[in-house]
Amino acid sequence: MDAASTIVCFEDVSLRFGDTPALDHVSFQMGAGETRVVFGAAGSGKTVLLKVAVGLVKPDSGRVFLLGQEITCMRETELFDLRARVGILFQEGGLFDSLNVAENVSYPLENQRTLRSGNRSNEARVRESLEFVELAHTLDKFPSELSGGMRRRVGIARAVVTEPALELYDSPTAGLDPITAHTIITLILKERDLRNTATIMVTHRYQDGQLMANFRYNPNSGEIERAPRGSAETVDTKFLIMQEGRLVFEGSETEFLANQDPYVRKFARPGAS
Ligand SMILES: Nc1ncnc2c1ncn2[C@@H]1O[C@H](COP(=O)(O)OP(=O)(O)O)[C@@H](O)[C@H]1O
Ligand SMILES: [Mg+2]
Repeated sequence: MDAASTIVCFEDVSLRFGDTPALDHVSFQMGAGETRVVFGAAGSGKTVLLKVAVGLVKPDSGRVFLLGQEITCMRETELFDLRARVGILFQEGGLFDSLNVAENVSYPLENQRTLRSGNRSNEARVRESLEFVELAHTLDKFPSELSGGMRRRVGIARAVVTEPALELYDSPTAGLDPITAHTIITLILKERDLRNTATIMVTHRYQDGQLMANFRYNPNSGEIERAPRGSAETVDTKFLIMQEGRLVFEGSETEFLANQDPYVRKFARPGAS
């Protein structure tokens, strides 16, 4: 794939903080509508990878493309407009405690000058996004009044409000009980499959990757279901494994499960972390 037709493309990207290599010669690319599940030990570079992908952090060397445009040396104003086409759920949800739910969700809209908003008001879009995560009744609440799972869902509402071409989810299920985690993955699949959104998800949970690779959202039931083998959902999902800043594995679920490397194998089983 030519870099200009990718959604995200890293070409030999490296970045260090002092003596720590956060990214070490990382190359990968993904096309529109594709899914990447990123595993790796704490400190292996997963969050930095997401930040570099949207230009929040500049690499020391290599080239980065976002939505087909090279951002390696892009000016902040240009980058700002491009970033407006990406939804981000930060680790821990990243809500502003001093803003209520509606204000949190509308934040990416307020920040955007170039978004084609159609004829819908920001208020309508915020409401739709909160309906998407089934939290329309929490508009006036503050993050501190919500459960951990609800806060994560508000974070998802904020990530989808701009209808981005790319969604980045940093550890969306971390710290949640299994049932709430399942709800969160259902919402991530809902966004991906209803809008064909390219998705990068960092996770520690093997089950999250399993669902991303093998399941799809069914709009009739509002639940996820196993996708037929060979369907787009199963074919377009790849697993990436980070180790000390290096991308040590990239492949399909079948290749992932067959890999014999002891570090890679740590992530390829239920209950892995
Ligand atoms: N702003 C920063 N300043 C210094 N070191 C950083 C910074 N951000 C990340 N690092 C270091 O880079 C490495 C990768 O971090 P990170 O991507 O956050 O790991 P994780 O895989 O847990 O998300 C770690 O060693 C981390 O300590
Ligand atoms: Mg992290």
